[in-house]
Formats: sequence, structure tokens, C-alpha cells
Amino acid sequence: MARILITGAAGALGSLLRSRMKQWPVTLRLSDVAKLSDAQVGEELVQCDLVDMAAVLTLVEGCDFIVHLGGIANENSFENILNANIIGTYNIYEAARRAGVKRILFASSNHATGAYEVGQTVDTAMPLRPDSFYGVSKGFGEVLARYYYDKYGIESACVRIGSCFALPTEKRMLATWMSYDDFTNLVKCVFEIEELGFQTIYGVSDNAKNWWDNRLAADLGWQPKDSVDSYATDLSLKEDETEIAARLQGGAYNTAGHFDDGDSGARTS
Ligand SMILES: NC(=O)c1ccc[n+]([C@@H]2O[C@H](COP(=O)([O-])OP(=O)(O)OC[C@H]3O[C@@H](n4cnc5c(N)ncnc54)[C@H](O)[C@@H]3O)[C@@H](O)[C@H]2O)c1
Repeated sequence: MARILITGAAGALGSLLRSRMKQWPVTLRLSDVAKLSDAQVGEELVQCDLVDMAAVLTLVEGCDFIVHLGGIANENSFENILNANIIGTYNIYEAARRAGVKRILFASSNHATGAYEVGQTVDTAMPLRPDSFYGVSKGFGEVLARYYYDKYGIESACVRIGSCFALPTEKRMLATWMSYDDFTNLVKCVFEIEELGFQTIYGVSDNAKNWWDNRLAADLGWQPKDSVDSYATDLSLKEDETEIAARLQGGAYNTAGHFDDGDSGARTS
């Protein structure tokens, strides 16, 4: 039976996948720096900081596929991003190489290209334009994934997740929202496809206002089934706070990060 490692398993998307994937005929190895709730049948729990290479080497041992979600999921100080997202992702790829793991889904982010203008159609061949240190770390992860594919044949899907939440909560999510079902099905496609190679894809539902063009990843066989459009009229959505946030795809991340001014940098989605 295949063993799938999920990093960041105590987080929002990790918990979602934990509950959805328990039906799959696989062993789930769940890991996070935070404490996880008790192991169920078919689960193995490993509490570990991704910065700790020795621990990560043990963590990936015996796994067939890694869903790498662990890390800081919003803007933060460069030092924190460096540790959790940049060194942490390097540790996962290098440990995968040493352990012979052949496939990884890397949870990248739309914030790797968040400095493009709203309304511009962006595809996955266009240059990275990160909107934050967080977005820079996701760009690093994508380039690292490419390197490990070209040099060592480790297959990767770099999924630039839009806004994966139960429901949309702000205006930009009318373009960026991805349903939980669409995300789960994307993970399934990446796991099951015979040959993945190296793919970059925006994780977004079939929203009328979509800014992203996934045609280059068409052979992945993933088709989003949901759309944010059915929610758009019944919710009062928060307007973007500033002119820059409304003009650029990454929204408020484009104005985040002034830590020397006392801005905590914490942002959602
Ligand atoms: N949820 C979204 O809409 C969205 C959008 C874009 C990208 N993403 C990416 O998807 C992934 C999961 O997102 P989420 O919303 O579940 O975030 P989350 O913050 O809920 O979960 C991230 C988890 O990573 C863990 N973590 C942080 N630093 C760690 C470390 N050093 N070692 C081990 N574990 C560590 C945290 O404890 C947390 O449980 C993240 O990589 C995020 O950047 C999510």
C-alpha cells in the first residue's frame, strides 16, 4: 500500500486532506510542528520541524508521495520565511532525493505572481512576480522543484493555490477561490496520474472572473467542477483596503511586510 506524507497536516488544508484522504487505500503519514490529534486507523503521526534536516530525513523515509503543505502560510519576517518555507522546502526535496521519493505536490501560492495587475491573464509560463517574502519563498520552492526534476527526476506538481476556503470571504476571492472538493480532486489527479513530470498549475475553481490560464497543465487531467459564482450575490464581501491591493492580483500582500514600521505582516488568503 502506498504511503503518502502530508506536511503541515495540522493546518487548514492539511486537516481537510486528512479527513478526505482517510477513504483512500493508502497509509497517511501526517506531520506538523504543531501537535496533531490522535492517530486513526491507517495514520502515522510524526511531529517535526521542517527546519530540522535530521528529523526530515527520518520523516520522508518509506514514503511514495509527499503533499508538502507545511510552512508559514502568509507574509512574515524574512527570517521566519527563510526558515520554515525556504530551508524547510529544501529539506523536504533533499530528503526525498536521498530516500528515493519520486513525486511531490508542492503547495505554492498565487502570491508567487501576485504583482500582476488584476484583469491581466497570467499563465504558468510567465515570469514569477511575487508580492511578498512569502510569494518569493513559493517562487523559490517552484524553482527548487524544477531543479530536482531536471537533475534527479523527482516529479513535482507546483500548485499555485488561490484561496482555498469553505466559502469566499473577500472580493478578490471572486477570482481566486477554490473549493475543497476541487482541491481534493487536484491532489488525487497528481497522485494517480501515471506520468506527472514537472507541472505548474493554478489551484482555482471554475470562476467566471478567473485571472489565470491553466492550459499549459491540461495534460494533468484536472478539471475544477465548482465555481464561486453561485456565492457571489448572497455574500457581503469585504472590499480591498487600498488602491494597490485592489489593483494587483495578490491584493493586500502587495502592501504587507513593513515590519520596521510595526506592521505585523499577518494576512489571510
Ligand atoms: N489556504 C489557502 O488558500 C492557501 C493559498 C495559497 C497557498 N497555500 C499554501 O498551502 C499550504 C497550506 O495552507 P494552510 O491554509 O493549510 O496553512 P496553515 O497555516 O493552516 O497550515 C500550515 C501548517 O504548517 C505548519 N508549519 C509551519 N511552520 C512549520 C515548520 N517549520 N515545520 C513544520 N510545520 C510547520 C503549521 O503548524 C501549520 O499547521 C501552505 O504552504 C500555504 O502557503 C494555501
